[in-house]
Amino acid sequence: MIEAFIFDLDGVITDTAKFHYLAWKELGLKIDIEIDEEFNESLKGISRMESLERILIKGNKQNEFTLKEKEDLANDKNKYYVELIKHISPKDILPGIENLLKEIKLNNIKIGLASASKNATMVLNNLGLNSYFDFIADAAKCKNSKPNPEIFIMAANGLDVDPLNSIGIEDAMAGIDAINSANMYSVGVGDKDSLNKANIVFENTQTIDFNQIVNSYKAC
Ligand code: BG6
Ligand code: MG
Repeated sequence: MIEAFIFDLDGVITDTAKFHYLAWKELGLKIDIEIDEEFNESLKGISRMESLERILIKGNKQNEFTLKEKEDLANDKNKYYVELIKHISPKDILPGIENLLKEIKLNNIKIGLASASKNATMVLNNLGLNSYFDFIADAAKCKNSKPNPEIFIMAANGLDVDPLNSIGIEDAMAGIDAINSANMYSVGVGDKDSLNKANIVFENTQTIDFNQIVNSYKAC
């Protein structure tokens, strides 16, 4: 029996993944490290500080900054990001997502959020989707970045559900690994080849089908 659907936010509920990319790119200009779309894929689902570490390693500058300087750089990135997401509104909900949330609720299944973003609550508020969520895991309390399952386990605990009876939805490879390690059923949104470890993949949010997920979960 499915007890919960646990969602990632960036790239699943709304297209903020592009704003994270633009904000990192802007920071990259400041520290002279080029960030392209391909490299950005490896940052999806990864926490702010860990993303910065990966960027510094890419630019071979991992030993150039003190912890305080790194925190300042991460804050700068966040300032760029917050500026970009300021005007997010319900029209920025990705196609099909609100109907999916409604269908889950109609079936008396709990809904949780397992986003690595410390801006998640603000984004959900701006989208007007807060009331659908029974529990939002707090990224600030999460010690281990995806692919570690910690944030998904935190969400399952907060919802008081068994991970084995939970469905996780993600657009990033690291996120699918996190869901699988949490012993949840994984739903990927995006490219079938790169999300090939997911139990089921939909090409985009519009095509996510509640009944198909339920049936494939039951069959596995
Ligand atoms: C994830 C994004 O949801 O949140 C990452 O996929 C981002 O790109 C991470 O780095 C942390 O977000 P924030 O808003 O706390 O910097
Ligand atoms: Mg994501």
